[in-house]
Amino acid sequence: MSVVALVPAAGRGERLGSSVPKALVLVRGEPMLVHAVRGLLSAGCVRRVVVAAPEAEVHTATAVLSAAGVDALVVSGGQCRTQSVHLALRAAMADAPDTTVVLVHDAARAFTPPSVISAVVEAVQNGAPAVVPVLPVTDTVKRVDSTGAVVATPDRSDLRIVQTPQGFRLDVLCRAFEAYPNDTTTDDAGLVERLGVPIITVPGHPNALKITTPFDLAVAEAVFG
Ligand code: CTP
Ligand code: MG
Repeated sequence: MSVVALVPAAGRGERLGSSVPKALVLVRGEPMLVHAVRGLLSAGCVRRVVVAAPEAEVHTATAVLSAAGVDALVVSGGQCRTQSVHLALRAAMADAPDTTVVLVHDAARAFTPPSVISAVVEAVQNGAPAVVPVLPVTDTVKRVDSTGAVVATPDRSDLRIVQTPQGFRLDVLCRAFEAYPNDTTTDDAGLVERLGVPIITVPGHPNALKITTPFDLAVAEAVFG
């Protein structure tokens, strides 16, 4: 089966507060995007990577990847993550028409271990229509109302934190985007779930954390590489 990875990297990184788009922020001397794409390729099961970069940064993203010797097609992303993924999906289908399995992987999860990537691919190749890597929730979780008052304490034993890459059969992901073209969810599997398609989980990894805040960046600088 031919596997393509889509890398949404078109966000601005407002919570990180950097002057350049988040995917181009250096971690351990290289842009987050370079780490993320290199990780996908090093898993050994991904044939092609398509990156959705901010419109104004397509050339820069292409240049930093090629300077690092990392092969990927870079296209313009959209206003929200779903749009960026959709644009990358269309480009991937034109670029690699024999694709049967699609991974969607946040550039911001720059240090995801290759073992997580290959576990997701294997699960799809073994017949799952949709696969997400997950971790158990270690903190107690509260549901609150608009004033911040606690209204419920869900049982955390059946809650999971969801990471990427998320893996899909190509036809399933295409159907999800056709059904919900204007959705602004941050989770591709959420669209597939609404189609009623079963989604299975595989173990995620703490190193697949999404670099979102300056604290996360400091953790990545200190721990990964
Ligand atoms: N993303 C994207 N296109 C968008 C918005 C987000 O491709 N219009 C990507 C980001 O580049 C990132 C991933 O989706 O790799 C996860 O999003 P997030 O961590 O929220 O990144 P940002 O949107 O850049 O950060 P923030 O929400 O703090 O602005
Ligand atoms: Mg965002």
